[in-house]
Amino acid sequence: METIDSIKRLEERMARLKGQGKEIGLVPTMGALHEGHLSLIRRARDENDVVVLSIFVNPIQFNRKDDYLSYPRNQDRDKALCFREGVDFLFVPKVEEMYQEGFSTYVEVEGLTDRLCGASRPGHFRGVTTVVTKLFNIVRPDRAYFGQKDFQQTVVIKRMVRDLNLNVEVLTLPTIREADGLALSSRNQLLRQGERQVASALYRSLLEARELFAFGIRDSRRIIQQMHDVLHKAGIFRIDYITLVDLESLEELEGARAGAVVALAAWVGNVRLIDNMTLEEVTSQLKARHKLGVNV
Ligand code: PAF
Repeated sequence: METIDSIKRLEERMARLKGQGKEIGLVPTMGALHEGHLSLIRRARDENDVVVLSIFVNPIQFNRKDDYLSYPRNQDRDKALCFREGVDFLFVPKVEEMYQEGFSTYVEVEGLTDRLCGASRPGHFRGVTTVVTKLFNIVRPDRAYFGQKDFQQTVVIKRMVRDLNLNVEVLTLPTIREADGLALSSRNQLLRQGERQVASALYRSLLEARELFAFGIRDSRRIIQQMHDVLHKAGIFRIDYITLVDLESLEELEGARAGAVVALAAWVGNVRLIDNMTLEEVTSQLKARHKLGVNV
């Protein structure tokens, strides 16, 4: 594994490999790697000749300075994990390398970014799409890998790739969860003792939605209300949003339907967490699992 902090050097390496006909997979991250990231690396490893993983805590996607400063960073551990997982190139640029003096060009996807997380984190997605475009231009990957936990991010990036004819296949991989259902996130490290248990209520509220749907409830307001109740019971009151949206347009749906996504963002202590789940066609298998009380 080669660790590179220079854009020029990485571009040279990529140009050479492309010239040899190699296919390149990119896993863009902000570090503090967890099993979710590792699942992306493993898939990239399976599908490409070369795997590049970037670690860059991107300042322009944070709308609060304290959030940027407190974002977990652990490069030595990340490096060891990347090495173990067979990453070929670890790209770790400094902020000055990515954003030179006078940087003033941004990529913005309109509409999709006004809602959900975009509503409470102004500028966040503009920062994400700008840095991801830069990474795509630097690495020129054949495929790029993202986690479903950041559902809106994946929808926004796919739209950007389509609209700007970027020559990369964007793959979204399933959310990896702790045993109690909490979605893995680098931010989980910031939860204090006690808050960690409370945080699993996010998942339970999504299961509640899925269960209501399985039992024939289609009224989004009712589903969302019940989800609020689950969170309140667990002591979570600072809820940014709970919503039921179309998978591609992110339009809010009044009526739940299979394939729709239930998404939420809520604060547990000082940590803002997000999660989502797709409502499934009600199959006999799902019904059986519900009857048995098995988590789905
Ligand atoms: O999901 C993330 O970690 C970041 O938003 C990303 C895609 C690496 C861009 O900074």
